[in-house]
Amino acid sequence: MKITSSTKICMNIGGLGRKSMSPIMHNAGYQELGLDFVYLSASLKIEDLEDFVKGVKAMQIRGVSVIIPFKQEIMNFLDNIDDTAKEIGAVNTVVNDNGRLTGYNTDWLGVVNSLKNVTEINGKKAAVLGAGGAARAAVYGLIKKGARVSIFNRTVEKAKKLAEDFDCEYFPLTDVEKIKEIDIILNMTSVGMSPEVDKLFLPENLIEKKHIVLDAVYNPHETKLLKNANKKGAKIVYGSEMLLHQGIEQFRMYTGVEAPEKIMRDALLEALREE
Ligand code: ATR
Repeated sequence: MKITSSTKICMNIGGLGRKSMSPIMHNAGYQELGLDFVYLSASLKIEDLEDFVKGVKAMQIRGVSVIIPFKQEIMNFLDNIDDTAKEIGAVNTVVNDNGRLTGYNTDWLGVVNSLKNVTEINGKKAAVLGAGGAARAAVYGLIKKGARVSIFNRTVEKAKKLAEDFDCEYFPLTDVEKIKEIDIILNMTSVGMSPEVDKLFLPENLIEKKHIVLDAVYNPHETKLLKNANKKGAKIVYGSEMLLHQGIEQFRMYTGVEAPEKIMRDALLEALREE
């Protein structure tokens, strides 16, 4: 990769100490297509976010991918927020068009496009586990694509609020046996993430062959939930596919060209294997 004074800069930002796979994935794509782009990564304190956004304009940074915990806070500092990001209530993508910053959300596309490879979504019954930011993007995407959604969350009030916003059903996690009637199960919580890889709040016997199981957790690559689903013969969708598909959309928005999906997937999987 040759970096010159005309190279366009994209980057991601996350909280202090957070690691990100996005630079590996995006830079592999730039390299493959010979694009004069580079993708960097930075950690910030939340109180420095406003100054960071000014810096994006000053340095003419073309695109910023936003990870936890800035997805909501950054909305206060942008010139424009597209309607989908407004409805989801979070921005994970900022595009700089000649100094004008617009916030978008591609997380929901990460969910629906990774599911598309294994199932039709329209008409299916989906259970979303969790009611945080990731769950919100999933609920938006699933409903937009015609699924009937039930939300299950440990804290029922949060499930209720999310369900009211999107007009769907909600249950406490203790009612999780209802999952038997569901087609697509999505873990949108951090349960099962390294280092607590043995945590599983869905009893093993609930998963059956007819299910499609997506786990937003991508570290470890095959979580305990997905291992169990695999054992039962269910179709599974790795968290890395969600990550890839939200990144593919960002790539297109930043560069204006279609992302090389296979190259980016390979780079991501190789990096995850090395984790
Ligand atoms: P994000 O924005 O990544 O979705 P979040 O807003 O912190 O993160 O949401 C995390 C989700 O994981 C929540 O739904 C949380 O449940 P609560 O609303 O009850 O807190 C869920 N979660 C985290 N740890 C959990 C655990 N050990 N058991 C069950 N649910 C858990």
